[in-house]
Amino acid sequence: MKIGLIGSGMLGKSVGLHLLKSGFQLTAYNRTKEKTKELKNNGAKIVLTPKGVAENSDIVITVVKDSNAVRQVSFEEDGIIFGTHKGLIVCDMSTINPLESKKISEKFSENDISMLDTPVMGGPNVAINGNLVMMAAGKKDSFDICKKLFDAIANKVFYLGENGSAHAVKLAMNLQITMLALALSEGITLVRGAKIDPKIFLEILNSTYFKTGMSENKALKMIQDEFEATFTLENLKKDIKTISETSKSFGLELPMIKKAEEIYENAVKEGFGNLDYTGILAYFKKINEKN
Ligand SMILES: NC(=O)c1ccc[n+]([C@@H]2O[C@H](COP(=O)([O-])OP(=O)(O)OC[C@H]3O[C@@H](n4cnc5c(N)ncnc54)[C@H](OP(=O)(O)O)[C@@H]3O)[C@@H](O)[C@H]2O)c1
Repeated sequence: MKIGLIGSGMLGKSVGLHLLKSGFQLTAYNRTKEKTKELKNNGAKIVLTPKGVAENSDIVITVVKDSNAVRQVSFEEDGIIFGTHKGLIVCDMSTINPLESKKISEKFSENDISMLDTPVMGGPNVAINGNLVMMAAGKKDSFDICKKLFDAIANKVFYLGENGSAHAVKLAMNLQITMLALALSEGITLVRGAKIDPKIFLEILNSTYFKTGMSENKALKMIQDEFEATFTLENLKKDIKTISETSKSFGLELPMIKKAEEIYENAVKEGFGNLDYTGILAYFKKINEKN
């Protein structure tokens, strides 16, 4: 199976490196070519356009920022559709609006290309070992063709049915990430305000039923002001906005995400966008210094 990769940002690069290590033949493209260096050094063929990726691949994975970027690499000049051939399947691993994803899959379909939405949970550190959790949706026969690839990328793969449904679940997952990051950050800020060492707060939290992977694995870094990004605050803000828009289009009221959107937007405006999403704690520190 010849695999194509469009987007070698934090997540895409790790997925690509893992596929190369697992013996897949990989052709890759990234808008900023320098970011493909490590893939090239590990055996990937680097091409200059998404069209070139499609021409060289049976299955193309897109891992780019948002739906505009997916549309750009798919349909605009030198996009995937211009490199189409019989049997080409596109798997979109970016986190985007499910309704947008459905429209994108229809446009692919008009060009005789089957598209699956295949968003994932887990960051670059997990992707590098093939331990992501994948949600997949779209035509079942295309899913079956890609299953071997998906099993290399993820240790759990959930097939969810019609196009768009995997992205809908992914947004519900990122809603969890948002609330956990906010709850931890407010808890740490509160105990610091009471002059209590946040390490003790974490030790107590992690001794209870209310501990999470985040409180066990990320929180110690948070209280040491270590916010090197595996998933940027800017990208989580993008996802929160998508959750907001998607819930509105479903006629739903999600009051917590509305507030989270305001908080994350302000954090980006204040210059915290390039930190890890848990850097929302650093933003809380800043607004409390002002008071
Ligand atoms: N990191 C994670 O933990 C994680 C986990 C699950 C899902 N995701 C999702 O995966 C996607 C990528 O995330 P990431 O963390 O890898 O982000 P990232 O490091 O910021 O990379 C973004 C990628 O998108 C490309 N891109 C942005 N706008 C583009 C455009 N208009 N045309 C073509 N390419 C464009 C960038 O190209 P340049 O290099 O040229 O800017 C880069 O390759 C996002 O949708 C994110 O929400 C991330």
